[in-house]
Amino acid sequence: MPDSSVIVSAAANIALIKYWGKSDQPGNQPATASLSVGLEDLRTITRVSVSETDAIIGELGEQGRARLSSFINRFREEHDIQQALNVSTENNFPTASGLASSASGFAAITLALTHLFKPEMTDLEKSQVARQGSGSAARSVYGGYVEVVLSDDSYAQPVMPAEDWPLDVLVAVVQENSKAMGSSEAMKHTAATSPVYADWIDTHKADMDIARSAIAERDFVKLADISEHSCLKMHSTMMTSRPPVLYWKPATVSIIHLAQHLRAAGTQVFFTIDAGAQVKLICAPEDTQTVVRALDAVEGISRLIKTRIGGEPRISQ
Ligand code: PMV
Repeated sequence: MPDSSVIVSAAANIALIKYWGKSDQPGNQPATASLSVGLEDLRTITRVSVSETDAIIGELGEQGRARLSSFINRFREEHDIQQALNVSTENNFPTASGLASSASGFAAITLALTHLFKPEMTDLEKSQVARQGSGSAARSVYGGYVEVVLSDDSYAQPVMPAEDWPLDVLVAVVQENSKAMGSSEAMKHTAATSPVYADWIDTHKADMDIARSAIAERDFVKLADISEHSCLKMHSTMMTSRPPVLYWKPATVSIIHLAQHLRAAGTQVFFTIDAGAQVKLICAPEDTQTVVRALDAVEGISRLIKTRIGGEPRISQ
């Protein structure tokens, strides 16, 4: 008999080569590929049980609840599933601060629904389902180094396990309240109004190739340079939009300078920033403490979360 209840723990991820912009195809298709690392300790835990009536329990906010509910309904319609579902979901990290929760959240619900109703689906197919909830969620179906491959139905695939090149990630929270504009809206706005958006699309494949080879060669400086470039290029499309989208706070800029200064002095660290003010610092484990100490001097950091890369999803009854 198939399971009637499942618990999934899926991890957030951080893109080193960013996805920014959607294609004009339906199904939340990205306009660019992307490459990420899973964040082992930042997880969404979602429990789904077949039930008498539908319910969604969790601190999702009105918008988050509506998005999750329509995702579940679409999955049920597509696969002709009649059962009512009780869904409870929580993050083990603060979501109000704009840390990516859509990636782990939509990966967790995808893995739960497919475990219960479509266990024959491959990981690739599960990543396509997760992508429809949020582009970055396609990557959280796996742990470690992961890339999104563009196709008519774009999907994620593993690049390398985290153990093959273990790195740490420090998340410096510099803004506690939610960001002003969500990523989907900001993507649409930049694509429509930024004069450099076309260049962003044109140069993306080359950035992916460099990042892939940096990972294969375990070349920290090469990965650092291309990741910071991808991040700054993505933010430059936002800043050159009209009106501009500027997520950064003064502390965001201070940490960028700090990371560049530390790396010039030989510390293995680089920064990346998503659609928000928080800075993620990727560090070689032997240098993580040096970075933590240096961050002490930066004003405006309200919290520092440390994790290693990893993030393999976990499924239990
Ligand atoms: O998955 P979404 O739709 O929230 O978009 C994610 C966009 C970035 O986080 C800025 C970049 C990325 O590739 O994760």
